[in-house]
Amino acid sequence: MRKKVIAGNWKMNMLPNETIEYIENLSKLVKNSENEVILCVPYVDLFYALLIAQNTNIKIGAQNMHFEEKGAYTGEVSAKMLKSINVEYVIIGHSERRQYFNETDETVNKKVKAAFENGLKPIVCVGETLEEREEGKTADKITMQTELALKDLTPEQVQNTIIAYEPIWAIGTGKTATSEDANNSIKEIRKKIAEIYGQNIAQRVIIQYGGSVKSKNAKELFNMSDIDGGLVGGASLDPQEFSKIVNFNEN
Ligand code: PGA
Repeated sequence: MRKKVIAGNWKMNMLPNETIEYIENLSKLVKNSENEVILCVPYVDLFYALLIAQNTNIKIGAQNMHFEEKGAYTGEVSAKMLKSINVEYVIIGHSERRQYFNETDETVNKKVKAAFENGLKPIVCVGETLEEREEGKTADKITMQTELALKDLTPEQVQNTIIAYEPIWAIGTGKTATSEDANNSIKEIRKKIAEIYGQNIAQRVIIQYGGSVKSKNAKELFNMSDIDGGLVGGASLDPQEFSKIVNFNEN
């Protein structure tokens, strides 16, 4: 049985003092959850988040990293640097990074490998545009992105990768994929992983849904057979609302 993993993606929001207050609040609200709780915060908030999340069940992640270990890459942060302060997770290939910062399937793959080499667990984002969806290309797009992101990984690494299926048209728009649609897309991703790495591994990979997840729709989405939790943007900025998403199975 796969566990449910709920990750907040704060994007470029929240200052260190807000981070401290937020995690103090959230930790009380989710302390009894059987689901895994992750907060992916801006770089400047990481240290504070890690400090306040100590001795809670909240895990901390970054939202990006560079694939090189060090060097002349002004403004970048490496996996080794993240690991050195005990960051556990890192989002890789979010559609906003692919769209605004020229991330490609190739850089995503390099980053996933570098993350594992440094002991970080990657949350890899895949998803189709509205145009691709309307042209019936959803399955092709997301299975291709998945295959390329996981290229040359060991079976064990594949098994420890979290994939977030985020249809781009559903991110920040208030539009969610129907739970059936999201579940079917995630099944396609799992099928592709099974084709390459075998059913055993595919059945163990955590695949989340992301795109306008809220407390109102979380239960229906996360109760689907193949949806193993969510990557939550806007609704993760409020600890009350986010805690309801984390605790979706408690009421
Ligand atoms: P959203 O963002 O929940 O605000 O739609 C999700 C994401 O981009 O990860």
